[in-house]
Amino acid sequence: MTSDVEALGAGHVVDEGVDDGAGRRVTLVGVTDANWRDIADVAPRDDQRDHVAATAARYLLLSEREEVWQSLGVDADGAIVGHVMWGWDDDDQLPWIGGLIVDAQEQGRGVGRAAMVTLVRWLLRRPDTNAVRLSYRPDNVAAKAMYAGLGFLESDLPVDDEVMAELTAVRAAPLL
Ligand SMILES: CC(C)(COP(=O)(O)OP(=O)(O)OC[C@H]1O[C@@H](n2cnc3c(N)ncnc32)[C@H](O)[C@@H]1OP(=O)(O)O)[C@@H](O)C(=O)NCCC(=O)NCCS
Repeated sequence: MTSDVEALGAGHVVDEGVDDGAGRRVTLVGVTDANWRDIADVAPRDDQRDHVAATAARYLLLSEREEVWQSLGVDADGAIVGHVMWGWDDDDQLPWIGGLIVDAQEQGRGVGRAAMVTLVRWLLRRPDTNAVRLSYRPDNVAAKAMYAGLGFLESDLPVDDEVMAELTAVRAAPLL
């Protein structure tokens, strides 16, 4: 994968007008000198460590070391509450989404859904993009339910040990 779709620079904010369940505006923010520590410290619940890395620091380093993924902070009214990343897949000619973690104490308030709607809206606005893809472990019940609720359809083709799912622009229309 290479990020030949326009990169989101440090300091850039993606605000698609989406709020979480508590009415906080959820935006995606580029990694900056001011926010990288808060993004790195984002951590899932202990029982979710089988599904994702123990903290978002691993994804930040991955984004930093390889020109594949681009990390973003998930911000709710000025507080970092999560991490997500995206990358352009040259084989699929589509963007992939990965590394979504909502901080343990922020889960269940609509942040994950708001972050996904924001990222999907932003990615699907690009003229070269008519679908987005991602993958998750088959036993990740919360992720599976969230993605299904957004309109993602599971593929028969597994990616490593994970389920691959795709959201086309047509299926995403209610979100856009
Ligand atoms: C998956 C995750 C990102 C969801 O974020 P969240 O902010 O808690 O989710 P939301 O409050 O926005 O809920 C969105 C949907 O997720 C699903 N969901 C969230 N928590 C759930 C749970 N404990 N059990 C089942 N479904 C759940 C529901 O479908 C929910 O929709 P609903 O509110 O209409 O029922 C969060 O649980 C998380 O960070 N998990 C650990 C990391 C992870 O698994 N990331 C995904 C890797 S592919």
